[in-house]
Amino acid sequence: MNAAVEPAAIAIAGLNKRFGQLSVLRDLDLTIADREFVCILGPSGSGKSTLLNIISGLEGGYTGTVQLGATRVGYLFQEPRLLPWLTAEKNVDFALDSCAVPESRRAELKDHYFELAGLAAFRGFYPHELSGGMRQRVSLVRALCVEPGILLMDEPFGGLDELTARRLRIDLLRIWRESRKTIVFVTHNAYEASYLADRVVVMARGRIRDQIKVTVPRPRDYDDPAVFDVNRDVVRRFLAAADVAEPAVPESDPALNPPGGKP
Ligand SMILES: Nc1ncnc2c1ncn2[C@@H]1O[C@H](COP(=O)(O)OP(=O)(O)O)[C@@H](O)[C@H]1O
Ligand SMILES: [Mg+2]
Repeated sequence: MNAAVEPAAIAIAGLNKRFGQLSVLRDLDLTIADREFVCILGPSGSGKSTLLNIISGLEGGYTGTVQLGATRVGYLFQEPRLLPWLTAEKNVDFALDSCAVPESRRAELKDHYFELAGLAAFRGFYPHELSGGMRQRVSLVRALCVEPGILLMDEPFGGLDELTARRLRIDLLRIWRESRKTIVFVTHNAYEASYLADRVVVMARGRIRDQIKVTVPRPRDYDDPAVFDVNRDVVRRFLAAADVAEPAVPESDPALNPPGGKP
């Protein structure tokens, strides 16, 4: 008998999305395994957020197929999007209410995830009393408490200073080891992708241009030279993909297009 095949968490085939004349996603195929940590790396405007929005169901009007192996999808954005008039804990309760998580399970989930996120002592704090990094931790707790099978993260640490972001990346991997969600994490930071991912998917101009499997063993050390090696490879392949996708000479650059040059 064949070994059991893990069902895919996300199976996308022939995905095309346009906004008017603009073709934002083009013939995109992507299969993500259950519990896989995939980073999508691409320059601004390459269609990363649109892809996450389609996976989450927020964006429609596409052609192709998107199949999910989980019914509940969590979504984290660059801004924590907390309700300012509610405490950290009440913000989490608000999400639990909307997902009808049974009362019996709530206390246990909140204790677990607030503790994991290092926020046990801050449950009663309001968003304005917390630092940017801590606010983003609360939004992570909120996303995890509703027990999503799939967690989508759109540049979640992009608005934080580098040291805070580094701490959150390290903690995210620790939390992921314990919760084992399928994660799709969008970033334009190659090192972040190399450190976090099982697989880095390089996007440019609405297409997947390259994919790099990251085999650095886990748990990973943030400063492991092996991660630096992966980063170097990822950057090289990312630049190669971007070069193919972008015009070689930007027309607006006078240094490259001198006024007296050929028309
Ligand atoms: N709702 C929208 N209406 C029209 N154009 C959009 C809309 N959302 C995104 N776009 C365009 O689609 C392209 C891809 O956007 P996006 O998915 O946000 O890219 P990324 O997240 O990689 O920066 C961009 O050119 C953007 O301007
Ligand atoms: Mg985006």
